[in-house]
Amino acid sequence: MIYFDNSASTNYKPPAVINAVVNALTFLSANPGRGGHSMAVKAGRLVQAARETAAAFLGQADPGRVIFTDNCTGALNLAILGAGQKGGHVVTTALEHNSVLRPLHALKARGLITLTVVEPNGGGVVDADMIKRALTPRTYMVATNHVSNVTGAAAPIEEIGRLLKDTDILYLVDGAQSVGYVPVDIAAQHIDLLAVAPHKGLHAPQGVGMLLASRRAGLNPIRFGGTGTASHEPTQPRALPEGLETGTLPTPAIAGLNSAVHWAKRHFHQNETHILELSYRLLNELKNLPFVTVYTPPGHYNGIVSVNVGDLSSESVSDILSEEYDICTRAGLHCAPLVHRHYKTENRGMVRISLGCDNTFEQVEFLLKAIREIGS
Ligand code: ALA
Repeated sequence: MIYFDNSASTNYKPPAVINAVVNALTFLSANPGRGGHSMAVKAGRLVQAARETAAAFLGQADPGRVIFTDNCTGALNLAILGAGQKGGHVVTTALEHNSVLRPLHALKARGLITLTVVEPNGGGVVDADMIKRALTPRTYMVATNHVSNVTGAAAPIEEIGRLLKDTDILYLVDGAQSVGYVPVDIAAQHIDLLAVAPHKGLHAPQGVGMLLASRRAGLNPIRFGGTGTASHEPTQPRALPEGLETGTLPTPAIAGLNSAVHWAKRHFHQNETHILELSYRLLNELKNLPFVTVYTPPGHYNGIVSVNVGDLSSESVSDILSEEYDICTRAGLHCAPLVHRHYKTENRGMVRISLGCDNTFEQVEFLLKAIREIGS
């Protein structure tokens, strides 16, 4: 089996990550932050260590502003609904995933906000000037992804961050497809809210997400319940991170995440270069095949390459790749409908090939051979 669906979830999990999960399940099945006994305290220390590891890796000065969520969608919902301002305006882009578009749409449908969706340019990217032109005096948030989960197009997040840093406008970055793959630093890139999908580029287990919030990003809770603090109060505590982390945390997944961040940091440059080289090879071969339409913008070597073959539907190509070649790709709309509206692929979708650090050049050559055979 050749796995090229790493943007959905990375297949490779380092042994140290697996061991950390098993260790937590074996020795730390207590509830962190709930109770003063030694097991709960140890579990709490592990959670705190994971916050500190993640904060250091992503340029977050205050580990207390690393908020654990159920997944990246949970982090984006918390950012969008928790920072929502009645009567305000938000700027986003047509390159976004439904985990950004749907909560924004929900705020708009309730009459709480107005929304501008910036279309990418002819090259399939959004630049800082396009964002600047969309701002209004009521804009309180700009939400963009760092790397599109459909085309692999990267947004100039540092430039957008610079544009917003001296305003009252918060910059929310969906880092689902970039954290672990390319440098992300919330201080240096002037990000106010960063949503992370640890089971992707960090090679952590599924079951935990993260939202990193800068000091100027105020967030209201969107879930209510036990925090292990101020239990006599009927109102949700304001203190971070626990005020936003209601309910039992997924300690085994957080243990895996802690180990995964250490691993990702140690292997960062090697992985970044390898994925860039694989992407380069794949993109440059595919663009020369007359029966292949490539949607990934030239020069965006971020491990995501999306194509169509002849006039076949993306599902047919992905099914042939799976059934006849044992290659895993993802077809369809990838939960990002406006990207497909932009490329007029709403009906046929795209075949997304998403590369991981454990893929090899031989696997890429085998995929190219398969695509040549399907297209000829
Ligand atoms: N959002 C994930 C993807 O792009 C699941 O496949």
